[in-house]
Amino acid sequence: MSVVALIGGQWGDEGKGKVIDSLAGKAKMVIRFSGGDNAGHTAINPYGEFKLHLIPSGVFHPHVICIIGNGVAVNPAVLLKEIEELRGRGVEVNNLLVSDRAHLVMPYHTLLDGLEEERRGKGALGTTRRGIGPAFADKVARIGIRTGDLLDKDAFYRQLNSTLEFKNAILAKLYGHPPLSLEEIFHQYCRYAEQLAPFIRETETTIHQALAKGESILLEGAQGTLLDPDFGTYPYVTSSSPLVGGGSQGTGIGPMEISRAVGVFKAYITRVGGGPMPTELKDDVGELIREKAKEYGTTTGRPRRCGWFDAVAGRLSVQVNSLSDIALTHLDIFDGFPSVRICTAYRLDNKTVDYFPSNATALERCQPVYEELPGWQESIADTRDLESLPQQARRYVARIEDLLSCPISFIAVGPAREQVVEVKPILP
Ligand code: GDP
Ligand code: IMO
Ligand code: MG
Repeated sequence: MSVVALIGGQWGDEGKGKVIDSLAGKAKMVIRFSGGDNAGHTAINPYGEFKLHLIPSGVFHPHVICIIGNGVAVNPAVLLKEIEELRGRGVEVNNLLVSDRAHLVMPYHTLLDGLEEERRGKGALGTTRRGIGPAFADKVARIGIRTGDLLDKDAFYRQLNSTLEFKNAILAKLYGHPPLSLEEIFHQYCRYAEQLAPFIRETETTIHQALAKGESILLEGAQGTLLDPDFGTYPYVTSSSPLVGGGSQGTGIGPMEISRAVGVFKAYITRVGGGPMPTELKDDVGELIREKAKEYGTTTGRPRRCGWFDAVAGRLSVQVNSLSDIALTHLDIFDGFPSVRICTAYRLDNKTVDYFPSNATALERCQPVYEELPGWQESIADTRDLESLPQQARRYVARIEDLLSCPISFIAVGPAREQVVEVKPILP
C-alpha cells in the first residue's frame, strides 16, 4: 500500500503540478487537500499546457480518480470554469469527486479579502484576493457553508440568510460598502449546485475503499511549508495547512497511513506576495532567474521574488513534514551559470544561527551566509538519469541532500511531464 503526500517545501510554486502529473500515471487516486483557487498548478503534457486551481493534477490520466478533499475551499464558479476548460481541450473529467465537507468560497469572501487588503495599506499581506483567508476564517468561526449544504436548498437559504446578515453589517459598518443581495447569491449558487451535484458526495468511503485495496494514492498539497499558518512566516502566510499533516486532516486519511512524504523544492527559491525572504536577490541574478524561468504568478500574474536556495528554511520543511524524499525542480534554470550559491546559515544580530526564526521581524534582519559551488555550462533539459548529469550539477544535488539530511529521489529538468530524472521510484 502506498499513500504518498506531496507538498511544497518552500513558499509555493515549486512545481507540484508538474511532479503530480509526472507521477500520477502510476496512481489510482489523487486528492487535493488544502488551499483553494489561490493555488495555480501547471502541468505540461500531451494535452497541452494547463493551469489548475482546484482540480487535482492527476486529471490528465483517465484511470485516476481525482478528489477535491474536505480541506479545500471551493469557489464553485472557478471549479465549473475549470471543468469546462478541461473538457473543451479534450480532457475527460468523469472521475472527479468533491467532498461534501469542503467549504465554499462565497462572494462576500472574495470581496472582503480585497477590502481587508486595502485596509492594511502598507502592511498588506499580498494575498491572491481569492477569498481564501475569509473562507477558512468562517470555517473555524463555524459560520461557513459547505458544498454538501448546496444540496438542500431550504437549509442553504436559511444558512445564507443568517450569515449574509452578519457579513452585510460588516460591509456597511466597517467599509461603507453596499449590501450584497441574498436572492442574487442564492439563485446563483443554486445554479452552481445543479451543475456540481453529480460531483459532490461523501468521499471518505471511496477513499477508504481504495486504502483497503492497497491502491496507490497521491495527496496533492497546495502552497508551501513557509506559508503554513503555524510554521511559516506568520502573518505573511496562507490560511490552511500546506503541510503533510494537513494532508491527513484535509482528506480523512490518518497520519499512520501515509507511507512517504515528498517535499517539492525548486533548485532556488521564490516567493510571491509580502513577507521576509532572506535569500531574495534584488539584482541581475534575481532578474535572470525570473526571466529564464518565467517566474510570474500562475494565479495572479505577479512577478515572483527570486533568490538562492535557502537550506535553513529547507531544514525546517524537512523537519515539520518528516520528509522521506525531496523532488528537486528547475535544476535546468542554472544551466550556464558560472557558479551557484546555497544559504547554509543566517547572521542574526551578530550571531550565526542555523534555524529559521519564528518571528517575521527577526527573519527580516537575517542575512544569508552562502556557500558557493561551481556551475555547469551544458543543457540538462534532455537528461534522464543521474549519471548523465554534469558532475557539478550532481555535486549541487548532493550538497542539498547533505544540508537537508533528506534524499533527493526526483529531479525535474524542465516543465514538461517527461523532463524528469527519477533517482529512486516514488510510487511502485
Ligand atoms: P506549483 O504551484 O507548485 O504547481 O507550481 P506552478 O505551476 O505555480 O509554477 C511552477 C512553474 O515552473 C510552472 O510554470 C511549470 O511549468 C514550471 N516548471 C515546473 N518544473 C520545472 C522544471 O523543472 N524546470 C523548468 N524550467 N520549469 C519547471
Ligand atoms: P501554489 O499551490 C505561491 C501566497 C500569496 C500570499 C499568501 C496569502 O500554486 O503553490 P492567500 O491568497 O492564500 O490568502 O495569500 O500566500 N500564496 C501562494 N504563493 N503559490 C501558491 O499556491 C500560493 N497560494 C497563496 O501570494 O503571499
Ligand atoms: Mg503555483
